[in-house]
Amino acid sequence: MFQSRKTILLAALSVAVLPVLAQDNKRLLERGTYLMNGIVACGNCHVQRDKGKPIVERGLSGGMVFDEEPFKAYAPNITPDPETGIGRWTDAQLARAIREGIRPDGTVIGPPMPMAFYRDLSDDDLAAIVAYLRAQPALKNVVPKSDYRMKLPPNYGPPITAKVTAPSPKDAVKYGAYLAGPLGHCLECHTPWVKGVPDMKRIGAGGNPFKGPWGVAVSRNLTPHESGLKGWSDAEIARATQTGVRKDGSPLNPPMAYAWYKNISADDMKALTAYLRSLKPLPFGG
Ligand code: HEC
Ligand code: HEC
Repeated sequence: MFQSRKTILLAALSVAVLPVLAQDNKRLLERGTYLMNGIVACGNCHVQRDKGKPIVERGLSGGMVFDEEPFKAYAPNITPDPETGIGRWTDAQLARAIREGIRPDGTVIGPPMPMAFYRDLSDDDLAAIVAYLRAQPALKNVVPKSDYRMKLPPNYGPPITAKVTAPSPKDAVKYGAYLAGPLGHCLECHTPWVKGVPDMKRIGAGGNPFKGPWGVAVSRNLTPHESGLKGWSDAEIARATQTGVRKDGSPLNPPMAYAWYKNISADDMKALTAYLRSLKPLPFGG
């Protein structure tokens, strides 16, 4: 008698819980799709290109090469293909690789994957990114192994065990910092590097060179200084970020992910701008 009541109770519970889980998964996938097609833009590195143009039908199957001193790195296939992608990794393994830079076999993911920034991704946004990756078509593509002529760190910090939450979007400046840091890593490119590491005392001051088929593009000063965004309107900042057009109307060069950033919501763009305007004004290069 007691036993069967418990069984009925359990059955009733699982019926009630299942739709909640399905809804949660739908919410995560929606959030993941918004992030991945917008501010997070993993595809800017993990989608192969042809003469600078992303080959959309190859999805996130990788192959792009980053040939810079001291490494020649290849962006791997991060589609769910079990042989050549991440199909055999569990959600937890995939999440750890993205946020902590450690693969299931214990090896460390090297640059230019922006590990210093992804460490602060919230649990929820990380789960959303994983849900998105799982929902992509599995594509076969064997990518060569990266060659690092430098010592990679043993890890990027201790294992993350505490809960990580994102700041509330109600606080535009704080949420904008989360957008420009962990989600969009704008500040990785726009903060001057010392030995390949952003010098956070000169946050946003620009000056890093990016070589490519376009020649050399140098990241600009995003602080509210005369040499930065002081004289720019909010609309001009949004146009540059989301369509790759400068204040004077001329086109900006890669590698900024304009094609993805065009999908950043108006509210998120406002928060990003509020945050950039809150930075300490610094001369170009800091
Ligand atoms: C600036 C370029 C860049 C960005 C942006 C980037 N990655 Fe990577 N990623 C790389 C490179 C290069 C590697 C390979 C590094 C190595 O060989 O150690 C890599 C490695 C990985 C790996 C390990 C795969 C394997 O099989 O070893 C995963 C998983 C991954 N990236 C997921 C992501 C996700 C998810 C995002 C967005 C949240 C992202 N990456 C953003 C360049 C990038
Ligand atoms: C992969 C590196 C990279 C990332 C990530 C990146 N940028 Fe840029 N950004 C650049 C480079 C390089 C330029 C200059 C391009 C040129 O001069 O042709 C630039 C130019 C700009 C400009 C134009 C400024 C001017 O003075 O002309 C703005 C605004 C800007 N970025 C904002 C952002 C924001 C906001 C983000 C994050 C959402 C971001 N960037 C992410 C590399 C990057």
